[in-house]
Amino acid sequence: MNDAKSAWGGRFTKPLDAFVTEFGASLPVDKRLWEHDIRGSIAHARMLANQGIISIADAEAIELGLSEIYGEIEGGRFVFDSEDEDIHMAVERALAAKAGDAGRRLHTARSRNDQVALDARMYSKDAALGLAQAANDLRATLLALADEHFAVVLPGYTHLQKAQPVLLSHHLLAYSWMLARDVDRLRHAYASADVMPLGSAALAGTSFPIDRHAVARELGFGSVSTNSLDAVSDRDFLLDLTYGCAVAMVHLSRLCEELVLWSSDEFGFVTMDDSFSTGSSIMPQKKNPDFAELTRGKTGRVVGDLTSLLVMLKGLPLAYNKDMQEDKEPVFDAIDTLAACLRAVNGMMASLRFDTDRMRVGARGGFMAATDLADHLASRGVPFREAHEVVGRLVLECERSGRTLQDLTLDDLKAASPVFADDALDAVDIDAVVARRTSEGGTGHDAVRVQLERAREALEVDVAWVATRARA
Ligand code: ARG
Repeated sequence: MNDAKSAWGGRFTKPLDAFVTEFGASLPVDKRLWEHDIRGSIAHARMLANQGIISIADAEAIELGLSEIYGEIEGGRFVFDSEDEDIHMAVERALAAKAGDAGRRLHTARSRNDQVALDARMYSKDAALGLAQAANDLRATLLALADEHFAVVLPGYTHLQKAQPVLLSHHLLAYSWMLARDVDRLRHAYASADVMPLGSAALAGTSFPIDRHAVARELGFGSVSTNSLDAVSDRDFLLDLTYGCAVAMVHLSRLCEELVLWSSDEFGFVTMDDSFSTGSSIMPQKKNPDFAELTRGKTGRVVGDLTSLLVMLKGLPLAYNKDMQEDKEPVFDAIDTLAACLRAVNGMMASLRFDTDRMRVGARGGFMAATDLADHLASRGVPFREAHEVVGRLVLECERSGRTLQDLTLDDLKAASPVFADDALDAVDIDAVVARRTSEGGTGHDAVRVQLERAREALEVDVAWVATRARA
């Protein structure tokens, strides 16, 4: 090699054009793989020595050099060369400078194609763990709020029209289940990244007597890949992770949309803490739910990240193609965005003030006990369709006279239908309306108590899952 900066100097007579050097570089983006790259290289070097492919002395020199580089990057002392194409070349160049020929032997039985696949898988596993932990934190906040406001009643909506009253705890728990499924998806993404690709080399495997299982064991992988062509061109694990991020963002976006609505003067169900709100530069009275809106807005880019990745992969023949270098930006963006949004939403939720009186007043309006009144008649033998019509007329009367169903007297009811029993007014009591929803998964107090317990158990399982995998 005549040129220390090029890994393929032998075959070429001219240096790379200055513009495309920069155009083709991924260092600014893949720098963040440095830690995984070095850990992977140390495992590879140890394996090469154990297999007698390089000497023990060379492996020791490599490990010493890589440890120094690790310290330099960690401490911000490492000098990245603008001519380094990517993190793999940057580390290898620095290693050669420190360890000479030993350093130049590290790449034996390895290609950047299997190396980058390894690094990306290690990174993805850590990212999935970190995101699962952040999602679990938000679940814990939601469960604490559900417990604290267990019996508060608020209007439930369909078509954003008042439908039936529900418990606030039931509403909050609905989001906790979305997040529980998000953690399921992250666990799946972790599992799909947990396959060790190193040893696939460029695309066809290697003639050296390597031990891939030793590398997998050392790096904590569950298994090794079974097809070298697939291993260097598979990015499904990135798709799984990015899909998990996109769905979680959609969930956060829906929660944030409710926070925006609920904090409006028209709803007035919640007040955001000052530390999570912004003002207006012109309107002194304003308090805006900026960070809920921003989370909703950022959802678009994560959906875009998933789309970028899918489209980037769709036309690629086997095996590695340079197009695949474009995989990292969207994935990192999806990870960073979801991590930031989970944190922001957790802070917003934990500091939220609920105006439970406003919720209760809201739950009395909108004729939300109408179904229960019809059910009362139906349970006394009136065909449901007829009961529906009787109550529909009562609603119309109330609307005309500016009353709610709770304002009706027993005489009003009996005038509408003689079948109404003396206890018919119980049917419109808002707490009773809620409590009556005893079906499994319904909003009745007892059913929600069971649900809260299940949500706690599910969270415990996922917290333990993260804890047993998180590196010290
Ligand atoms: N920077 C490259 C990437 O991210 C590393 C793999 C390069 N391999 C190659 N054959 N050019 O995809």
